[in-house]
Amino acid sequence: MYMAKKISNTGKVVNKVMPGQIPEEFINDLRHRVDIVAVIGEFVPLKKQGRNYTGICPFHGEKTPSFVVSPDKQIFHCFGCGKGGNVFSFLIEKDAMSFPEAVEHLAKRAGIALPNIAVSPEKDKRDSLMKRYFDINEKTAKYYEQLLYDSSGKEALRYLQGRGLKTDVLEKFQLGYAPAGWDMLTNYLRGEDITEQELLTIGLAVKSKKGTLIDRFRNRVMYPITNETGKIIGFGGRVLDNSQPKYLNSPDTPLFSKGKQLYGLHLSKGSVREQDRVIIMEGYMDVITAWQNGLTNVVGTMGTALTPEHVRLLMRYTYNTFICFDADNAGQKATLRGLDTLQEQGCNISVVSIPDSKDPDDFIRKEGRARFTEIVERAHNLLEYKLIKLMEQFNTQTVSGRIQVVQELIPDILKTKSPIARQACIQMVGERLSFPETAIHAEIRKAVSYQEAPKENSKTVRFLSAQEKAQRILIKLTLEYPELIGEVEENGGKELFKIALLKEIYQNHYVIRQSGHNIKANDLITLLGDSASQKVLAEILLENELPEDWKRIYKDCLVLLRLELLQQQINHKNNMMLDMEKQGEATKVLQLMASIQQLVKEKHSLATALRKGGNLY
Ligand code: GTP
Ligand code: MN
Repeated sequence: MYMAKKISNTGKVVNKVMPGQIPEEFINDLRHRVDIVAVIGEFVPLKKQGRNYTGICPFHGEKTPSFVVSPDKQIFHCFGCGKGGNVFSFLIEKDAMSFPEAVEHLAKRAGIALPNIAVSPEKDKRDSLMKRYFDINEKTAKYYEQLLYDSSGKEALRYLQGRGLKTDVLEKFQLGYAPAGWDMLTNYLRGEDITEQELLTIGLAVKSKKGTLIDRFRNRVMYPITNETGKIIGFGGRVLDNSQPKYLNSPDTPLFSKGKQLYGLHLSKGSVREQDRVIIMEGYMDVITAWQNGLTNVVGTMGTALTPEHVRLLMRYTYNTFICFDADNAGQKATLRGLDTLQEQGCNISVVSIPDSKDPDDFIRKEGRARFTEIVERAHNLLEYKLIKLMEQFNTQTVSGRIQVVQELIPDILKTKSPIARQACIQMVGERLSFPETAIHAEIRKAVSYQEAPKENSKTVRFLSAQEKAQRILIKLTLEYPELIGEVEENGGKELFKIALLKEIYQNHYVIRQSGHNIKANDLITLLGDSASQKVLAEILLENELPEDWKRIYKDCLVLLRLELLQQQINHKNNMMLDMEKQGEATKVLQLMASIQQLVKEKHSLATALRKGGNLY
């Protein structure tokens, strides 16, 4: 029976749901009416790739997408962690829904009325409790908001207007004013049949020394904090002067926990998804001022460093995060801390630097939206940002200082797994430090051999440069998928292979194919005359299996080697041009110049595309 199978598949739910509650036809019908791509797409940005869609797996930390959704089969599967199933299992796993909850959610989404389903009593109780808390917060926000425009809120309103906020944005963020008395809100809510315990539980009141209840927020401008769906989960309150603490926030409650929510996400999520990027700020005022100036893809961390929970929340909408924390030192430290873990979760991280020690609020108000957008465009990727900070820290006038900078960066360079992205990093570091790339490679080799030295018993691992790896991968791929040979040839063919043995293997394969033979990898080993190339080829063939996203890796390798080849051709032609100049051959010089320009252009467009996103495809 469908239901029984479905439920037992999902472990936890077994006990809570009595089979047969939801008619089987209803579930089947529902399954045909919803599209798994659209449902999952609300949690994970998906890219179409052939018949399927791929994205970063929401169930485990990964950097390259191994999560696949098939619209034909209406299933998903992660090749990294093995999770998979249909649209129901996805919601159950991802959103911690029970099976009936998933059905309910999807039915609502598809606009189909639910058949009568009995809900479990505990859930019913929990739901109604939460609903009551949300209602109390909503009432409170309305109360504060109304007071802001009342005579008692005059000073608060003047304060906000003084900071440049217009009425529409005040209303959009539902700003308000908490009155100065000791128990104004508490009394008001008590009159609305709300209990003392409830007021304490959701953090609107605190117990005074005398044991009576007093308002937590007094004489403050109030910023309601909403969850992703717009329900109010807590509040922040700011003083109107310079007294301390400047901000008071709701404590951790059943609705609110610090470090898990992002201010403004409910309002900005649509535009974050649309623009495929989010700008992350620290403060309430930063977010609100950004909004008032038409920047709507912004959220605030409310003063905490960015947490993995924040990032998971954001990754439902985009992978592209722009960190725009305050320019003061504390802000910068907070920026660096924890960013690595975020990157490990699969985000692209860029760091926006605000000039002149301003916070985003200040900057936008004084310099305007256009200037702000400019500095966002100039954001540095994480590695580049770290490099800049290190260059401020060490004396880069000296060679030893520059070597220190390189050494500090090596762990980050090594974390970059894609050969092409790694090469781009190395190139960038080399350019910024005016340091030859070969020297950086040498430092990396030193670091790697040092790391591997203690493992004496394990077989010695030879460190391969990105170039060598790329050549090996291309050999493996062209043997497995000979249809790639055409493109490899267009990009330089055997010229791409700088290592003699590898060049020989590739060229042999190519020539045999050209003569119309359909040759298998094994046959090629036999056909290769010398034992050195046989050994290398066998090693290449037995190395790691090709990953699911081999197409991207293939492109990466091709671009990396193409860049190298272009550079070599540029150098070669440059030398020729110098010769021709000496010999007074003006026409030839002009011809060479034009062709160098062509090569440089190609190289730049490849390199920029690379540096922008870390990877090209
Ligand atoms: P102003 O521009 O001074 O109104 O504040 P801001 O929004 O720019 O805040 P700031 O950059 O000073 O701090 C960033 C965020 O950290 C604030 O929006 C608050 O969420 C939080 N924060 C700041 N000060 C305090 C404080 O004293 N206590 C608590 N709990 N949070 C604070
Ligand atoms: Mn500020």
